[in-house]
Amino acid sequence: MRILFVCLGNICRSPTAEGVFRHRLAEAGLAETVAVDSCGTGSWHIGKSPDSRAQAAARQRGVDLSQLRARQLEAADFDRFDYLLAMDDDNLASLEAMRPADCSAHVGLLLDFAGEPGRPVPDPYYGGEQGFDEVFDLVERAADGLIEHLRERLGRGQ
Ligand code: 4NP
Repeated sequence: MRILFVCLGNICRSPTAEGVFRHRLAEAGLAETVAVDSCGTGSWHIGKSPDSRAQAAARQRGVDLSQLRARQLEAADFDRFDYLLAMDDDNLASLEAMRPADCSAHVGLLLDFAGEPGRPVPDPYYGGEQGFDEVFDLVERAADGLIEHLRERLGRGQ
């Protein structure tokens, strides 16, 4: 099972989702079963580390984002991943515009898995540090729901 988290720049929200979710998968004993990655719909930050504010917010909560590097969404991602999860409606629209007609992957919003369908993870880039804590909180809630969903799909119960 392969999951791709998608935002605009791949330096704030989707790397946070990748880091949190990888951490949770390891705790859940699913690290070998579910692979995670992240990307941005834009090209501005390709090759860059996550924003220092995103790294700090994650580090405070025990998640290390320092090894991640930004990349851009590409057409092959629709074949490679089972779930492509957008942070907001703009990211989702970019995904839908690029999605091949025969793509069978799940393409939707991340917070659909937090029981909050339609709610975006707000872009924290131009705001203050508290926005990065909010991103972390929202992503954590979605991680719980997504792991539960994957367990059901994988037939592992719980
Ligand atoms: P992200 O945040 O999409 O969560 O990585 C942003 C990062 C950079 C920009 C916008 C959003 N930017 O305009 O450069």
